[in-house]
Amino acid sequence: MTSKFEYPKSFGRYKVLDLVARGGLAAIFKCEAPDGDLVAVKALLKEGGGINVTESQYPMLTTRFQREIQITGQLDHRAVVRLIDSGYEGDIPYMVINYVVGERLFERIYEGAPMEVEEARTLMIKVCDGLQMVHFKNIAHRDVQPKNLLLVIPDDDPVLIDFGLALTPHLSMEGKTERAGTVSYMPPEIVDRERFIPPGVMGNINREMELFRSADIWGIGCLFYFSLSGKRPFPGDTEEEVFKAITDSPHVPLSDIVPSIPEWPDKVLDYIFQKDYRQRPSTPLLTGTQFEDRGTTIPQPKKKLFGLF
Ligand SMILES: Nc1ncnc2c1ncn2[C@@H]1O[C@H](COP(=O)(O)OP(=O)(O)O)[C@@H](O)[C@H]1O
Ligand SMILES: [Mg+2]
Repeated sequence: MTSKFEYPKSFGRYKVLDLVARGGLAAIFKCEAPDGDLVAVKALLKEGGGINVTESQYPMLTTRFQREIQITGQLDHRAVVRLIDSGYEGDIPYMVINYVVGERLFERIYEGAPMEVEEARTLMIKVCDGLQMVHFKNIAHRDVQPKNLLLVIPDDDPVLIDFGLALTPHLSMEGKTERAGTVSYMPPEIVDRERFIPPGVMGNINREMELFRSADIWGIGCLFYFSLSGKRPFPGDTEEEVFKAITDSPHVPLSDIVPSIPEWPDKVLDYIFQKDYRQRPSTPLLTGTQFEDRGTTIPQPKKKLFGLF
């Protein structure tokens, strides 16, 4: 059954010009601010989001949306979405963010062509810089993937969007035990918590945040891989196959897909895609250094602290 998708003509002072996307739970509109500036409005519609939200789920989703607004309000970096305003239109909560004239990394590569190594390298350095600010504020994004990275036209400057799954200890950590993220880009410890999260981590907020931040580092690896190949690093035809690849196989070498590629991207990816999350680069800053140095300064593996493998 299809129902006509009706949405407000404006959100507060922001006049709707166009519907941009109907994502997982929210809809994004291109709007005009009173001063004539273009803005994007993300609204949690009862109907018309990507999925049918039942009446009973709505309070929880509203709480999560409020958390997304509060988290987005803490962000301040040119490579990360910025909050301009928020409010209610009737009973619909919305947030106003800077409108990015550009396209998603996903379409850019999937409908266009993979990037040259130097282009992807420059992009990743900028993304790491933005993510460093996010992590510095003790926020973990938890869904770093090619559909949540916009590239500004014409300079290709990245903008990380969608803090809908983000967590920070200052706000509710509700949802922290869910298998959150996007299947193809989840790290092993999110796919199989029992096997990859050492005892004593869950329940200790600092160690939980370290775990979630590391999932973002894994996400950076996925962005880099996708930029260079248009493919997922751990492919499979079913969810089960993908999960198995993530937990038990190394990534498909880029050199299998792009024969002309130098060695260093696969070396950096080996470092990022460590199954034991504590062996990965510990911060986006250090991850960015690997791109800057083209993998020439990858440290020796740390001593294993528990018997993972
Ligand atoms: N600030 C923005 N400027 C332009 N387009 C945006 C902006 N934010 C989101 N979009 C578009 O809307 C889509 C959904 O937004 P997102 O925040 O990822 O929502 P969801 O939580 O539903 O995934 C994005 O993939 C992108 O295409
Ligand atoms: Mg999204």
